[in-house]
Amino acid sequence: MIVVGIETSCDETGIALYDTARGLLAHAIHSQVAMHEEYGGVVPELASRDHIKRLAPLLAHVLAEAGIAKEAIGAVAYTAGPGLAGALLTGASFAEGLAWSLGVPALPVHHLEGHLLSPLLADDPAQFPFIALLVSGGHTQIMCVEQVGAYELMGESLDDAAGEAFDKTAQLLGLGYPGGPALAKLAEAGVAGRFKLPRPMLTSGDLNFSFSGLKTAVLTVVRARPLSAQDKADLAAEFQEAATEVLATKALAACRQRRLSTLVVAGGVGANRRLRQRLDEAGKRQGVRVCYPEMALCTDNGAMIAFAAAQRWLAGGYDAAREQQRAGGFAVRPRWPLQEL
Ligand code: KG4
Ligand code: ZN
Repeated sequence: MIVVGIETSCDETGIALYDTARGLLAHAIHSQVAMHEEYGGVVPELASRDHIKRLAPLLAHVLAEAGIAKEAIGAVAYTAGPGLAGALLTGASFAEGLAWSLGVPALPVHHLEGHLLSPLLADDPAQFPFIALLVSGGHTQIMCVEQVGAYELMGESLDDAAGEAFDKTAQLLGLGYPGGPALAKLAEAGVAGRFKLPRPMLTSGDLNFSFSGLKTAVLTVVRARPLSAQDKADLAAEFQEAATEVLATKALAACRQRRLSTLVVAGGVGANRRLRQRLDEAGKRQGVRVCYPEMALCTDNGAMIAFAAAQRWLAGGYDAAREQQRAGGFAVRPRWPLQEL
């Protein structure tokens, strides 16, 4: 079966075609970064308007790339939450309309489940059960994943998400939006250790995180005196060291706790090279295999949505969706804890 995946939860319009027999056929992403840049963050109303404009052309693009007609589509998957309500509604209504016109099921998907399963799209995918480190702009969680749909929350951030901390720190350093990749790039030119930042909750004994204090510590340095370009790079490097040390340490502690030897990393911050380096090194010492999504599938995309829907479909997990479709209604959930799946 060919599943279309539609992602519009935030500032990327993503559409992909996934075939349960042949794998990923095509995927395309339109990023709104340039549009939101001048506002220093995502403007929800502008995001929704842009998704609406991009959806139909992107679908035509992936169909052409895969060389298939839209009648070959067997199901339409879309991100139903969590995310920006208006943005979610654009993808949901487009997907529901498309599914209805083709006479195929519409499959709502949890955005984080998409991220969580995205490393399984790799050539040599991880095997269940595994520990997952989910690090995005809105979430920082450690989950124990028994199988598709069985997600146990082991720890999470008590305040800011890791991506949010990268973004806010980048803003303090005058790097604009989106901050994570820009801060990581600046950190390459810096030396960690010249400024001393805390490693929040590193020795808390549990698997929770806190990143707001780290951001405040950066603010204190920024306010103390004017920073040179080298100062900023050194501060960025120290911030990256602090954040990635806590993330890597706790993710591997979770593997030890459950005696699991596979760690899956998902979400936008999973693109961070220093985080990957730390996880790889520590994983090697501990006999843990660390699996990442392809770089292009780390941030929001339609491929992970199509894939998660297909896995759920194959596991028989879509009765509720079919019931809902028969009733002719659909809903999005801007707030939607993954454990409620
Ligand atoms: O998963 P994602 O695309 O969207 C959400 O669902 O949140 O993650 C976006 C987050 C942003 O906070 C962005 O700054 C961060 O991922 N990010 C990075 C890097 N690339 C993206 N953070 C650190 N280093 C990176 N290379
Ligand atoms: Zn995401």
